[in-house]
Amino acid sequence: MKLAIGNDHVAVEMKNTIKAYLEAKGIEVINVGTDKSESYSYAISAYKVGKLVASGEVDGGILICGTGVGIGIAANKIDGIRCCICSEPYSAKLSKQHNNSNVIAFGARVIGIEMAKMIVDEWLGAEFEGGRHAVRVGMIMEIQDTQELEAAK
Ligand code: RB5
Repeated sequence: MKLAIGNDHVAVEMKNTIKAYLEAKGIEVINVGTDKSESYSYAISAYKVGKLVASGEVDGGILICGTGVGIGIAANKIDGIRCCICSEPYSAKLSKQHNNSNVIAFGARVIGIEMAKMIVDEWLGAEFEGGRHAVRVGMIMEIQDTQELEAAK
């Protein structure tokens, strides 16, 4: 498995810890975030991770900023990205099972490192269930692709 990870200046330490945690499990992690404490706009990392995921170059993405919100919203603007912004593992797991999330985002100012590890573990361990959820994810992608939704007409 190969993942991309990105962050802003607020989340350098958490990014490094999560990266090392995943690598210790044998997962390859491409770091596209900043490694410095100088101000760094979260949208840059969101864009880089989102593009790697959308192109299929990596199997998924992890994004960390102060809250996870800005970096997650930015990632969701990229075609094909379904980023789950969350602070606990239940949402992370269900976002893969039901929404086929391909990126996860959380906040270094919101959660601790052990919660972050648990979120990542639950998300990576889950699988998309398909079926009725595939129909709904299809609607999400229809909105993205057409800015319309036939089912709502
Ligand atoms: C940076 O100050 C902060 O705005 C950013 O890390 C993030 O929380 C934005 O959503």
